[in-house]
Amino acid sequence: MSEVKRDAKDLLKAHGAPIRQVYLDSENSGLIFPEAIEDMVKCYTVFGYGHPSITHKVGWETYEVLMKSSEIISRALGCSSDEILYLHSGTEANNLAILGLAKAHGKSRRKIIVSSIEHLSVIHTVEDLVKYGFEIVKVPVDNEGFVDPDILSSNLDSNTLMVSIGFVNHEIGTIQDLKGLVEVVKDYDEGIFFHTDAVDALGRVKFSVKDLNVDLASFSSHKVFGPKGAACLYVKSGVNLEPIIFGQLSTQRFWPGLENVPSISGFARAVDIMISNFDDFNSRMSSFRDMLINGVLSTVDNCILNGPMGVKRASDNVNLSFLYCEGEALTVELSLRGIYVSSGSACTSRILQPSHILLAIGRRYEEAHGSILMKVTPFHTIDDIRYVLDNIPEAVNRIRSISPFKGD
Ligand SMILES: Cc1ncc(COP(=O)(O)O)c(C=O)c1O
Repeated sequence: MSEVKRDAKDLLKAHGAPIRQVYLDSENSGLIFPEAIEDMVKCYTVFGYGHPSITHKVGWETYEVLMKSSEIISRALGCSSDEILYLHSGTEANNLAILGLAKAHGKSRRKIIVSSIEHLSVIHTVEDLVKYGFEIVKVPVDNEGFVDPDILSSNLDSNTLMVSIGFVNHEIGTIQDLKGLVEVVKDYDEGIFFHTDAVDALGRVKFSVKDLNVDLASFSSHKVFGPKGAACLYVKSGVNLEPIIFGQLSTQRFWPGLENVPSISGFARAVDIMISNFDDFNSRMSSFRDMLINGVLSTVDNCILNGPMGVKRASDNVNLSFLYCEGEALTVELSLRGIYVSSGSACTSRILQPSHILLAIGRRYEEAHGSILMKVTPFHTIDDIRYVLDNIPEAVNRIRSISPFKGD
């Protein structure tokens, strides 16, 4: 048994059952809409359980489910359904966008620009390209996580192949003026490709990929309360990629292998629910977000908000740093009280490294280490939020009382 599995078993045994449970970790993954599960079950058992590339009745039915899902998703993204390419995760979508472009077009241009606060599936992917001779530039952000268009502009040159900048930051909720940033790049040179990791934007920001004028955009099902195992990449018509994995039997270009049709159908249903309820969900989430932020800031001293406040912050994002308090210890203390949050991002939380995003916005190491990330969802109730507000001050005090990082 792996160490993680053994630890999890012991920790669960010791944990006990809290009186109430509030799950605030949908950044890492979480609940899905029951309607999406219903569609998936139908797909596994009645209509759509075959292979969409095969020429018999069940194959055609499965293809039909895929096409219907593409219609729904492309309508939500503002593109045509043949510009949607399915993969299994946002990580895969970011990898294909960057590596696929670099393979297809990287002979003449060798420079890739990203922001310093990208998801690690972007950062690690571009860093890998250094060994193949690409130059990587990470443009800095200000203390709220915004990319300065002038700094972006000053880094563009005739060697620039692509720019990849996330739409909504997953850790600190910053909503970039993406359309403005794309304009800066395209005004300089139409031939520079623009990819955006829009995984955290879908359902939180109103947009259309055509209006943004991006060439590529990544999305992931579990971030819109759909099932895991489905994601998509918008590839603007006419943009060519080279495949980065190889195989056979797929309905789509650039990504071979069986599409996860049941999860894709659940993804489409989740997207539909998020878009049809956009105003209601977002006003609910932003009021919960502000209750949490204002409630904690007014009851806990030495606490700071990471990321912007107001309309330029994603409606679901709460990221707070507690001085003299380790975020990891706080997640455990809160877990014992039935409140599930994360400290830093999933990728870094198992290897106690401060978040590169918090460091990029100028937080000191101890501020980055003392951060917790909470994501509110349409599933929460006001009583959930009150329960969290009742517990955080006590939990922080307890961790501070045993922490070696005291203020004095
Ligand atoms: C902004 C962002 N990009 C990419 C990913 C990776 O998506 P996935 O978990 O589907 O691999 C995530 C996941 O949380 C994310 O928040």
